[in-house]
Amino acid sequence: MLTPASTFRRGPLPAPTDKATAERILDIRRWTDKLITVRTTRNVSFRFQPGQFARIGIASDRGGTIWRPYSMVSANYDEHLEFFSIIVPNGAFSTKLALASVGDTLYVEKQPYGYLTTSRFVGGQDLWMLATGTGIAPFLSILRDPEVWAQYDNLLLAYSVRHISELAYRNEIAAIAQDEPFAEHGHKLRFAPIVTREAVPGMLNRRLTDLLHDGELEKSIGLPIDAERARMLICGNPQMLDDVRQVLTARGFRPDLGRAPGHFACENYW
Ligand SMILES: Cc1cc2nc3c(=O)[nH]c(=O)nc-3n(C[C@H](O)[C@H](O)[C@H](O)COP(=O)(O)OP(=O)(O)OC[C@H]3O[C@@H](n4cnc5c(N)ncnc54)[C@H](O)[C@@H]3O)c2cc1C
Ligand SMILES: NC(=O)c1ccc[n+]([C@@H]2O[C@H](COP(=O)([O-])OP(=O)(O)OC[C@H]3O[C@@H](n4cnc5c(N)ncnc54)[C@H](OP(=O)(O)O)[C@@H]3O)[C@@H](O)[C@H]2O)c1
Repeated sequence: MLTPASTFRRGPLPAPTDKATAERILDIRRWTDKLITVRTTRNVSFRFQPGQFARIGIASDRGGTIWRPYSMVSANYDEHLEFFSIIVPNGAFSTKLALASVGDTLYVEKQPYGYLTTSRFVGGQDLWMLATGTGIAPFLSILRDPEVWAQYDNLLLAYSVRHISELAYRNEIAAIAQDEPFAEHGHKLRFAPIVTREAVPGMLNRRLTDLLHDGELEKSIGLPIDAERARMLICGNPQMLDDVRQVLTARGFRPDLGRAPGHFACENYW
């Protein structure tokens, strides 16, 4: 039984080795001065569902370990783990992560968490994934899950950032549909990149909420959000989640609440 995300607490653990494993950083990619990807070793016993997150820990200068939740970017069958992180000015965890080097240790809690997974939904043929900023992370893992490609007729991804330089993983997203296991279904994936603070040819340039409200997102993607077919996962900025919830509710979509199946589920990043 998974621990519900709502019971997640920050704070020190007794000792990293009790509840977590020590993993080694294998690679670091710096997308901008505020965005970083860290790849680590993966303990063979660590299992997760695409879309879930782990609590990861980094040694603090003052002794102890600083813990934060992070979605897994990597596929659940990859030998490594990958995390995509914002670097927040003065952020206790992320400023430490920004200084990390290959070979350093990251702790990964043995228990994964979270319900931003497709297994929560009853039915549905179109999987809509809406992300702002680093909220793209869980969808990168979900998009590399062969079961998702088999289960859904259409995979629709909208990913909003302020500036084009922050549209991390866009080449990887384009490449997924051509990857060996997915290529025969490659046409299922449609990607709508959104850049809100500069005009980029071929990319949408207004907020997700506005695009959902007036139907431009659907027009651009070429598929309506149909109440019978659509299941939606939404991740990132908490204000965006509140605003999107309002737009979707006004359009007649319902949150998926476990005992009352619905159309959409959200994950707040802060
Ligand atoms: C379930 C869950 C999964 C998460 N997964 C990720 C992930 O995959 N990648 C990731 O970068 N973060 C993720 N976060 C946020 C992450 O846990 C930390 O908050 C973040 O790394 C900053 O840590 P910090 O200690 O530096 O600053 P904190 O003290 O934790 O945060 C300080 C402030 O920074 C801002 N902030 C925090 N996180 C973000 C963010 N991701 N994007 C934009 N602004 C932010 C908020 O204003 C916040 O109040 C997740 C959070 C939750 C609850
Ligand atoms: N990215 C930067 O250059 C930068 C610089 C300094 C500080 N920061 C800080 O870093 C943190 C994260 O920045 P971020 O750019 O990763 O995340 P962000 O502020 O959540 O922005 C990411 C995307 O989400 C959109 N968005 C934000 N709120 C929304 C809402 N209510 N409805 C619909 N769309 C919404 C943004 O559009 P809009 O552009 O319309 O907001 C943008 O396209 C913030 O706390 C920010 O103050 C970022």
